[in-house]
Amino acid sequence: MSTYKLKQYLKLHLSKKRYKHTVRVAKLAKELAVIYNIDPFKAEYASLGHDIAKEISDLEAMAYIDQYGIKLDPVIEQNPNLAHGEIGAIMLRNQFGCEDSEILEAVKWHTYGHKNMSLLSKIIYMADVVEASRTFEGVEELRVLVRVDIDAAILKFCDLTQDYFKKNNQGMHQNTYDMIETIKKADS
Ligand SMILES: [Fe+2]
Ligand SMILES: [Fe+2]
Repeated sequence: MSTYKLKQYLKLHLSKKRYKHTVRVAKLAKELAVIYNIDPFKAEYASLGHDIAKEISDLEAMAYIDQYGIKLDPVIEQNPNLAHGEIGAIMLRNQFGCEDSEILEAVKWHTYGHKNMSLLSKIIYMADVVEASRTFEGVEELRVLVRVDIDAAILKFCDLTQDYFKKNNQGMHQNTYDMIETIKKADS
């Protein structure tokens, strides 16, 4: 498993903007991996691969959803692109021979989370939302929190997104509710 082959693919298939985002996620995820004492290579590889499927068309996404039986949560029915994490994990396994279940899960759940998130999955989830170019209200506080208490950072971020979704009349994926519940239970 080499990051070289993956990077070459991403440079060819992702927009410049998305590729740069991916590199920023990898930089932060590696830093967080050191803080939380997990393998920085896994953090880098999962970060590089996390948005590999982000720019496929809705038609292609629907084809993956059908072929691989990806759960059609109502929010995915509305926006098939939200499944790009699950599709990305399939691409990394099929096209890049990635068999590392921890990496594949981190990619799979980076968009809407999952009830059982490994530390690596949590790191990719949060590195994606607070990487250096993000500017939403509250991001500075999250950048501090993510380096001290990753669970608290996830809960804080989910609070912010829930408010945003309510204001915009959007629903949240069931997995995100499940993730919040598991983290709250573990912390109580
Ligand atoms: Fe993504
Ligand atoms: Fe991303």
